[in-house]
Amino acid sequence: MKAVILDDYNSMPVIGDIAIPEIGPDDVLVRVVAAALNPLDVKLHGGVLQDYFPIEFRYVVGTDLAGRIEAVGANVTDWEKGDRIVARLDPVRGGACAGFACVPAKYLAKVPDTIPLETAAGIPTVAGTAWQALFELGDLKAGQTVLIHAGAGGVGSFAIQFARAGGARVMTTVSGDGIDIAHRLGADHVIDYRNANFAENLSDIDLVIDTIGGETHQRSFGVLRRGGKLLALVAPPDEALANAHNVTADFVFHMSDGERLVRVVSAIAENSINILTDRIVSLDAFSDAFARQSSGCARGKIIVTMA
Ligand SMILES: NC(=O)c1ccc[n+]([C@@H]2O[C@H](COP(=O)([O-])OP(=O)(O)OC[C@H]3O[C@@H](n4cnc5c(N)ncnc54)[C@H](OP(=O)(O)O)[C@@H]3O)[C@@H](O)[C@H]2O)c1
Repeated sequence: MKAVILDDYNSMPVIGDIAIPEIGPDDVLVRVVAAALNPLDVKLHGGVLQDYFPIEFRYVVGTDLAGRIEAVGANVTDWEKGDRIVARLDPVRGGACAGFACVPAKYLAKVPDTIPLETAAGIPTVAGTAWQALFELGDLKAGQTVLIHAGAGGVGSFAIQFARAGGARVMTTVSGDGIDIAHRLGADHVIDYRNANFAENLSDIDLVIDTIGGETHQRSFGVLRRGGKLLALVAPPDEALANAHNVTADFVFHMSDGERLVRVVSAIAENSINILTDRIVSLDAFSDAFARQSSGCARGKIIVTMA
């Protein structure tokens, strides 16, 4: 089968032929229709996350995939050949950008017929992270106000829509054509971060989803109400600043979880949530897709079709 292979940190990912993976008794074999890239794939490629995710080479790139089940392991009773699924693989194992993938059954969620598999591939990591941050760690309630940084990115675009569907008021930071995108996704208040300082315009926020870090992280504490919460996605939060502002702060560490993914997929289907897609390219354009992901400017998901 064709696969996108990484032979070392910082080496160019190449398209090559490798054997179809063997599955264990608790796994399924998936014929991959599409895989989506994430900033994590770029960070793994650059070797900056070796302490958290010690990958081994040859490494098949990608965690997020959608496709159809081709075969099931001996212990798998809930799934059958032909099921339309989406899944997030363990980053340490990778394997999504390939003709077939071995997926532990516990990571699977069914994709309803209303969602094309090509776009469904864009769901797992970013929608799962947005959900985990808003509702599991952030405990966001209807009527509360949330600030979501990078509203035109993968996590941000889902977070805006989930928060609105949950009855929250949404503030977001974006730039350029991200302004229109954030309005279309339903944000109540959109701040162009290149032309305005969000920290001077906002106050009494219940929850901040910080997808940026650095200076944005530092300035975000000041917009929270007393007792509010900041959730950091890029690096562990600054505890001293949290204490100084009388707020709490946590790091979001997203892990593959089929039960959450089932909830996320049904929320997307029930609320007609838009899977914001930057581009869908075929496998032979993988290097352009990877360059676009590496730019940090994507407007939603970059998806590579395998079939
Ligand atoms: N901890 C975890 O478990 C976890 C899980 C998922 C993701 N993450 C991390 O979260 C971050 C976001 O992920 P993603 O998938 O949403 O990335 P993405 O889709 O690549 O989003 C990039 C977006 O960031 C915007 N942006 C850049 N600088 C900004 C700033 N100062 N203020 C506001 N927006 C800004 C860009 O818009 P402009 O072009 O307009 O600047 C772009 O739309 C990444 O670092 C990723 O690794 C962490």
